[in-house]
Amino acid sequence: MFRVAISSARASSKVRWSRCIQTQPHTLTESSMGMAMGMMGGKKEREEGDISSVFASLSGEASKPLPARFGELKEKIIGDEANQRALVESWSRLTKRLSEVAEEVDRKKQDCIPQVTYEEFTRSPSSNTIEAIKRSGSLIVKNVIERETAERWLKDIEKYIKDNPSVKGFPKDDKQVFELYWSKTQLIARSHPRSFQVQKSLLKLFSADEGDREVSLHVPLSYADRLRIRHPGDSQFSLGPHSDGGSVERWEDGTYRGVYKDILTGKWEKFDPWTIGGRVRANQNMYDGPGSCGVFRAFQGWTSLSSTGPNEGTLRVYPFIKELSAYVLLRPLFREKQSRATVTHDQYLSPSNWELDVNTPSTTFPGSPLARCQEYSDITHPHLQLGRSMVSMPRVEPGDQAWWHCDTIHAVEATHNGLGPSAVLYIPTVPLTLQNIRYIKDQRENFISGRPGPDFPGGVGESNFIGRGMETDIIGEEGRQAMGLKAFELDDKMSEGERLLRSKANEILGL
Ligand SMILES: [Fe+2]
Repeated sequence: MFRVAISSARASSKVRWSRCIQTQPHTLTESSMGMAMGMMGGKKEREEGDISSVFASLSGEASKPLPARFGELKEKIIGDEANQRALVESWSRLTKRLSEVAEEVDRKKQDCIPQVTYEEFTRSPSSNTIEAIKRSGSLIVKNVIERETAERWLKDIEKYIKDNPSVKGFPKDDKQVFELYWSKTQLIARSHPRSFQVQKSLLKLFSADEGDREVSLHVPLSYADRLRIRHPGDSQFSLGPHSDGGSVERWEDGTYRGVYKDILTGKWEKFDPWTIGGRVRANQNMYDGPGSCGVFRAFQGWTSLSSTGPNEGTLRVYPFIKELSAYVLLRPLFREKQSRATVTHDQYLSPSNWELDVNTPSTTFPGSPLARCQEYSDITHPHLQLGRSMVSMPRVEPGDQAWWHCDTIHAVEATHNGLGPSAVLYIPTVPLTLQNIRYIKDQRENFISGRPGPDFPGGVGESNFIGRGMETDIIGEEGRQAMGLKAFELDDKMSEGERLLRSKANEILGL
């Protein structure tokens, strides 16, 4: 699941973890002179901190009003009278639909998450399967890696950890989320041909304009993320509902906002979460947040190395991607009339209790602080009914993969009540884009020296680790290409856009 982060948050708070964040404190040494200069791989190095710097709810800070310009932004988005009417009507339709969704998730539980075998998904998924995946936004792909191989990977990683006792991890006294990016196992898993096949099939779910020269949905890249081996009984490592890809940026950045144009003009039913559009050019990180991600990830995902089911410390998701996207985007535009303390629950949620935040609009964007992760709760987003509508992933076996759309609201179960390790390798689906290839270029530099990728806490990382993975461990030409170690091939059969994008990527990589 994530690029993440853990930290030793405040002793008074339950410490949580997410993979979309990373904040492990680290120490610079003489051997990291580049970083000592404040730079890493050509990018500014991330500041030290802990998880509370990523999640406002963990920092204990009260919800702070955003600067005045956010009131103006809200007014601009709400628009003229015609748009206002459309928004109010769409809000009414949407909140009714969200109530149906909550009931459906409550009833179906894990059945809301489509499960598909590797063979079906990569060869000829049925229209029913595609439809179910597109409705949910999350899925399990079964048998991607042979069970025996995945089990061996876990043993190999455990040995790598044992051979390198100085490895950092969270929590410090019982490490479960490791600051490891370059083990042989991770390099092999990221470049595994069957994993690339799944990623290509995931990218096929999206559509891009034929003339779009900034994205290829045919070429997955390797983004080096962490791994976790969660222990039975653990409850330190949990994370509340959140989404990746920035917070206020979804409204403030014009390109990002454009992705959700249908929603913001009162036509949420028309919104297609599977259109790439401006996502590849959007600025998801306007405030250099400590948990921000330097690439556009179409899907977040992990490869399971263990048999793990609900209540065993697994991932939870809101399994209706269009509805959640619509509500997330519309929510700041509306305000309650009567507080929850003065009316019944149904009255509180009723559309008649909500109105557009117009005429001296507030600067409030619930759960969307600057430079923090976008978070959700029953207070900030009551119509989602998160207590009923977040569902744990179905049981996975070693070699299965879990995937969720880049806008999906997700969380990590508070407690691991299972009997064995809950182990995953975080490996997302990252398409070739110009922004992404620039990250890969910087990441390549860090890989060669054994340091964490630019998105992650700095330091010397695995530079001096015994048994660290090398370029020769990467499988095949596709794996080397995904790491920026081999030029992208060009041929006349490609569209002009694809060929130009690959040429530009090769140029950026100096290949
Ligand atoms: Fe996340």
